[in-house]
Amino acid sequence: MSDAVIEKVDNDGVVRLTINRPKALNALNSDVLSALEAYLVELETHPRLRAVIITGAGEKSFVAGADITEMRDKTPEEARAFATQALRTIKRLETLPVPVVALVNGFCLGGGCELALACDWAVASENAVFGQPEVLLGVIPGFGGTQRLPRRVGPAMAIDLVTTGRKIDAQEALRIGLVNRVMPQAELENYVEELTKQLKGNGPLSVRGAKQAVHDGLDQDLDSALALETSLFALCFAGEEQKEGMGAFVEKRKPNF
Ligand code: CAA
Repeated sequence: MSDAVIEKVDNDGVVRLTINRPKALNALNSDVLSALEAYLVELETHPRLRAVIITGAGEKSFVAGADITEMRDKTPEEARAFATQALRTIKRLETLPVPVVALVNGFCLGGGCELALACDWAVASENAVFGQPEVLLGVIPGFGGTQRLPRRVGPAMAIDLVTTGRKIDAQEALRIGLVNRVMPQAELENYVEELTKQLKGNGPLSVRGAKQAVHDGLDQDLDSALALETSLFALCFAGEEQKEGMGAFVEKRKPNF
């Protein structure tokens, strides 16, 4: 691992971004956010992007939050600018056109949990610890936690977590729907590799369309969202991918997307 605050590895369209500040448990400071945003801007126009994995360096922490040392002396205006930078960056991650997988080892707290909440998948090791402990520091979540957490786990559990600041283990995170899978730490990498392989084997445009339908539909009333689904479904029939997928089924062979 180099000393860059974000490491990027592109494995034939599966891009892995590693937040690399293990000595500070990968806490998000302005440098990390700027570097992350620059990579995300690049990925928005990556011609062969199939999936993104985001993780933290080391086995102790995904991201232990926004950087408390950097925030400590901020004025309200500076705090607003910091949160705005983070929200913009996290939104870019959320709206990438392909599935984004958070690979969570260890601490996933505060801004780290808020980063994971913007991912399509969160796969956690058994040692993962989640929480929004901001109230213990005299603040509230500022990187989207008060809004994405209730949308993910429901308002009752979100209120519980953001007002007590309590930490939960991976199994509780799974039970409340905060993460998709929990794996023994030794199997986490293999599992994520298999997952991205599976995503890569599917029709690239249909995977993008399925993600878009879920994301865009969630912000709409049901009838509008269903109309959106119909449009995206119909659009699939305009391209080669549907012809290959359905043709392969009928011809009893594997599709070649
Ligand atoms: N910001 C800056 N530095 C951090 C950090 C953070 N969020 N979390 C950990 N670190 C640093 C520690 O200061 C320490 O640095 P030094 O070695 O230089 O002292 C190093 O990482 C290792 O941490 P600990 O020695 O504390 O490790 P531990 O195993 O004893 O404890 C921990 C781990 C429970 C995660 C503890 O570090 C901790 O409570 N961290 C803060 C978690 C937190 O409150 N996160 C929310 C931040 S606020 C936020 O995110 C706001 C928002 O929504 C925008």
